Amino acid sequence: MSPPRTPYPWWRSAVVYQVYPRSFADGNGDGIGDIAGLRKRLPYLADLGIDAVWINPWYPSPMKDAGYDVADYRDIEPLFGTLAEAEALLQEAHALGLRVLLDIVPNHCSDQHVWFQQALKAAPGSPERDRFIFRPGKGAHGEIPPNDWISEFGGPAWSRTTGPDGQPGDWYLRIFAPEQPDFNWDNPEVLAEFEKTLRFWFDRGVDGFRIDVAHGLVKASGLPDVGPRTLPAHADANHPHWDLPGVHAIYRAWRKVADSYDDPRIFVAEAWVHPGDRLARYVRSDELHTAFNFDYLVAPWRAEQLRASINGTLAAHAEVGAPPTWVLSNHDVAREVSRYARPQTTAPLRWLDDLLGQPADFALGLQRARAAALLMLALPGGAYIYQGEELGLPEVEDLPDAVLQDPMFEQTGRTSRGRDGCRVPIPWEGAQPHFGFSPPTSAPPWLPQPANWAALSVSAQSRVEGSTLDLYRKALQLRRSDIGLGGYGLQWLPSPEGALVFTRGSGFVCMVNVSAEPLALPAGAKLLLNSGTLDAQGRVPADTAVWLHTS
Ligand code: NOJ
Repeated sequence: MSPPRTPYPWWRSAVVYQVYPRSFADGNGDGIGDIAGLRKRLPYLADLGIDAVWINPWYPSPMKDAGYDVADYRDIEPLFGTLAEAEALLQEAHALGLRVLLDIVPNHCSDQHVWFQQALKAAPGSPERDRFIFRPGKGAHGEIPPNDWISEFGGPAWSRTTGPDGQPGDWYLRIFAPEQPDFNWDNPEVLAEFEKTLRFWFDRGVDGFRIDVAHGLVKASGLPDVGPRTLPAHADANHPHWDLPGVHAIYRAWRKVADSYDDPRIFVAEAWVHPGDRLARYVRSDELHTAFNFDYLVAPWRAEQLRASINGTLAAHAEVGAPPTWVLSNHDVAREVSRYARPQTTAPLRWLDDLLGQPADFALGLQRARAAALLMLALPGGAYIYQGEELGLPEVEDLPDAVLQDPMFEQTGRTSRGRDGCRVPIPWEGAQPHFGFSPPTSAPPWLPQPANWAALSVSAQSRVEGSTLDLYRKALQLRRSDIGLGGYGLQWLPSPEGALVFTRGSGFVCMVNVSAEPLALPAGAKLLLNSGTLDAQGRVPADTAVWLHTS
């Protein structure tokens, strides 16, 4: 069976499951997830009812940033397997009706990439160096970085080279880790090289790409200082290295590559930009197909903020005719069960660091996360599910310092706990770690799993009425059926403060009680699915969502 051909493009309403390969399933017993493990678990994904998988970077990498430091864009990291295994996976996924998206990392590569190694050996001003952003330092001896830009992982965004004579030389820009030099997208060789990479994978049947740091590729000419700014970077229209207009020409070129295939390939942008109309520019009809809506991800569990985010997103996307893309979590943010377990003030909650020290009610967090899943899956457009979300996994907040691997931890002088807490290998079955993540006698998982995850495993929740996995399966099944979830709009229905109630298509109604008094179901409504128990009067209590059919 090949992926279904629908009359409208599949990606406009697809549910995509994010596979973080090192934490999904370990096939060879080294404690690190791999392609062999993923291939074994493909039937699970098909059964879940998703349309596609997105696989985080699986290319050869020194793993200084969990694979986002790519040494070779057209091969497979040996820890994960081989190119032949990747090709087999593509075929098997397609045979199960699943599309496959990869992750392309165009802002930077690994310092071990052949181009960067050549650049280090070449002289200042050489064509090899022009593929990256090298500059002399300031100060009497060039000892001060060329400008004031700050790395996303902490500290200056520049690293200094050492010449063959052992003397310090020019600096190179790296917005993330020192081992992740930024490409110079003003150099046409860079575009040509990435187009070659896109075609390499498209020719092997890959259905699309998630674009890492899609808003970061172009830097302001002259690399001016950021200086004192009042707006956060993602909301600053004049920032010197985020969301510059030049990025759009790159995506118009990429779109042509994608559209040159018979069954056109698609892109989803990781672009932390704000507000919605700036995000919408990435999904104009000749650019990218979709872009993650992170405003929604960081919105606290408060009805007015959720409603505002939904309305803003729908309006901005409607302007350009693109579908919105909803997401509750990914490998970079604290899991939503733990975010929603905290007091929901108006401040966005994103990192584990935003949560630590705040009182937590994890049962409440899970209840809200389940309601949030039904809300997200009822909205028009596409949605992404991060592995383990369908199991209701919480963030692992107490990983010992010694096991932390995210470069954020060391680069911030250990002031940030980083993102490892949402990357812990997922539990499949059994009473104790490794919970079926690896074959029976294997090395321990690369990050330790909490001993109390047995009840959250796939096998513990499979076919168990009311489990979170059961809720996701049913929601995805209903979403694929003819329950009136068609069309790209929604219509709000009158509801009390603290509630979100809308209808879509013909007769479908989603009611979400965020914090209101219990909500009565409309007369004659048929209950399709509920995220939690209704009260004795059959009403929807706070932190609960229902899907209904009304005639
Ligand atoms: C965003 C990725 O999702 C994150 O994991 C990575 O550290 C940065 N981009 C840098 O590539």
